Amino acid sequence: MPKTTVWSIQQIDQDTAKISVEEAAQMLKKQEVVAFPTETVYGLGADATNEAAVNKIFQAKGRPSDNPLIVHVATKQQMEEFVTHIPPLAETLITAFMPGPLTIILPSNGKIAANVVAGLDTVGLRIPDHPVALALIQVCHLPLAAPSANRSGRPSPTTAAHVLHDLDGKIAGVLDAGQTGVGVESTVVDCTGDLPMILRPGGVTRQQLEKVIGDVMVDPALAKKNEKPKSPGMKYTHYAPEAPLWLVDGSVNFIQNLINENNKEGLQVGVLASDELACQVTADVVRACGSRADLKQVAIHLYDALRSFSSTNVDIIICETFIEEGIGEAIMNRLQKAATKKLTQ
Ligand code: TXA
Ligand code: MG
Repeated sequence: MPKTTVWSIQQIDQDTAKISVEEAAQMLKKQEVVAFPTETVYGLGADATNEAAVNKIFQAKGRPSDNPLIVHVATKQQMEEFVTHIPPLAETLITAFMPGPLTIILPSNGKIAANVVAGLDTVGLRIPDHPVALALIQVCHLPLAAPSANRSGRPSPTTAAHVLHDLDGKIAGVLDAGQTGVGVESTVVDCTGDLPMILRPGGVTRQQLEKVIGDVMVDPALAKKNEKPKSPGMKYTHYAPEAPLWLVDGSVNFIQNLINENNKEGLQVGVLASDELACQVTADVVRACGSRADLKQVAIHLYDALRSFSSTNVDIIICETFIEEGIGEAIMNRLQKAATKKLTQ
């Protein structure tokens, strides 16, 4: 693989941006993989109708082949090309939340490559709310299969630098449009049953969904460890920084004592905390990721904060818990998955 091309985009309507998107689209048409920004995280895109192109995604990421990919389209009309039908419930969700951080699972009509859906008869579809993503899809005229553009198991990328850290030299290119806006991935909602079911919490909150479609079920596997998740990807370890992460539900004193005990044993301790806790603890490295009163900011900074420990020499990362409300459900879902140990005071 030749060097990974990096296209820097300031404004989508500039001529240079149009040329960059055109070049990236040409690469996608030639069955290459290209990373691009969405409103949630950067995705690693390939032609979703081409099995050979999609294989390159699995290879670059080191992703297990039984984990299906989300297909990104620009319009509802384009979505209709790949499903048997759109149930009324899904119509309502599309109208309310797309473009936006929502993925809906619908019955596939078989036109999407088999390796994208990992052999399932359903397909996950979303319309990303990002001008660069939408321009890319429109210019290449292809549905884009795109998982998050990280090595499998690592935190998702919210900047092009994160993408390059994981995948430089392994992918054809990356469209760099700066930091993404939401910071955590889309909410995945299964619309193939009688009732909608959240398979993965994300950028659209449960409360937002319920305002529009009433009661929403949540995959029981999200709460219980032993249940098999309905979304294949949810069973894997995910979002993990390089050092082991301990998720700690306790007071400032409890956390400070834990830091001190581990320091005494000769370990370098990192802390990932809200602004409120960060200014009250002393550790080898302390990273603040936003105020508890503004969990949207925590979501935006979470993955960058997790990744930032890899340039330090901490042996463990101690992370506080957040309230599981609104976007807090997605934040805690990711932290639970990243954690190697959970402690409660
Ligand atoms: O925000 C996002 O969703 C980002 C951006 C790039 O769009 N993408 C993303 O993709 O997070 P990925 O591959 O990291 O996560 C996709 C999730 C996995 O948990 C996968 O198992 C689930 O969606 N999924 C995809 N297709 C599915 C299907 N047909 N049935 C059930 N789950 C599905
Ligand atoms: Mg991912």
